[in-house]
Amino acid sequence: MKLDPIQAAAAAQFDKQSQHYGKGHVLEQTPDIETALKYIPLQRGWRALDVATGGGHTGLLLVARGCDVTLGDISQNMLERAQKLGEERGLKVATRQFPAEAIPFGDGEFDLVSCRVAPHHFSNPEGFVREAARVLKPGGYFLLIDPSIEDGQPEVEAWLHEVEKWRDPSHHRIWSLGTWQRWCAGAGLQLVHSELQRMKQPDLEWYFNAAATSPENRAKVREAIRTAPAAAKDFLRLGEEDGKIVWWWQRMILVARRAA
Ligand SMILES: C[S@@+](CC[C@H](N)C(=O)[O-])C[C@H]1O[C@@H](n2cnc3c(N)ncnc32)[C@H](O)[C@@H]1O
Repeated sequence: MKLDPIQAAAAAQFDKQSQHYGKGHVLEQTPDIETALKYIPLQRGWRALDVATGGGHTGLLLVARGCDVTLGDISQNMLERAQKLGEERGLKVATRQFPAEAIPFGDGEFDLVSCRVAPHHFSNPEGFVREAARVLKPGGYFLLIDPSIEDGQPEVEAWLHEVEKWRDPSHHRIWSLGTWQRWCAGAGLQLVHSELQRMKQPDLEWYFNAAATSPENRAKVREAIRTAPAAAKDFLRLGEEDGKIVWWWQRMILVARRAA
């Protein structure tokens, strides 16, 4: 598998950190997926591809709802963890290692392509959207969830980018809602629904541990939080609870559909 430097950094980071993304991870809670599924008439037997499956929380939910799911990820360790979690739950899944920007399936094979809390690591997210559209059947659904922001918030975007890079150097970029909508339209996907949903990040220390943030970078993030511009403080509702630093992400939930 030939990887560009951004993809290679993500693969190395998640191979190293895979044990943190299984049971007990905040991603195990799936209200965001339930929101998206209100706009998708999921049917038993649908063929689904969960791209960048991580701990498998999205893909396994789709298996439990009767879909025939392939879990894909750039990190082999992540795929093994997700598959093991599936086995523990008595769920059958296929796995395949590949970068989201080059999906190794033919045109029009899937009823649903999902991707949750991963595209901010991708080197070419627009290319990923084109690939997702390509492997969807006509009328197939695209379910995309990722941290995002409204258009026109450059100061907050820049601050978030810096903090996220320090926390996890494999972070690439958060993209605005309008950017994702444009990419979908460009790939021939019709928007069905999009929204930004708040999600609490309840403990900065836990968040550091999940990414194995270096002590030096933890100090930089703490300082950035202490001196955050008012716009970032307001936007993220940055605060403290029981001695823990908490903030609220905006998570984009987007459902689009390939023209029938
Ligand atoms: C936070 S986890 C995903 C969480 C998961 N989708 C869920 O619902 O719980 C991010 C995943 O993205 C994967 N990833 C990062 N860059 C990738 C790329 N370019 N192609 C495919 N997977 C990638 C990582 O290996 C990691 O497993």
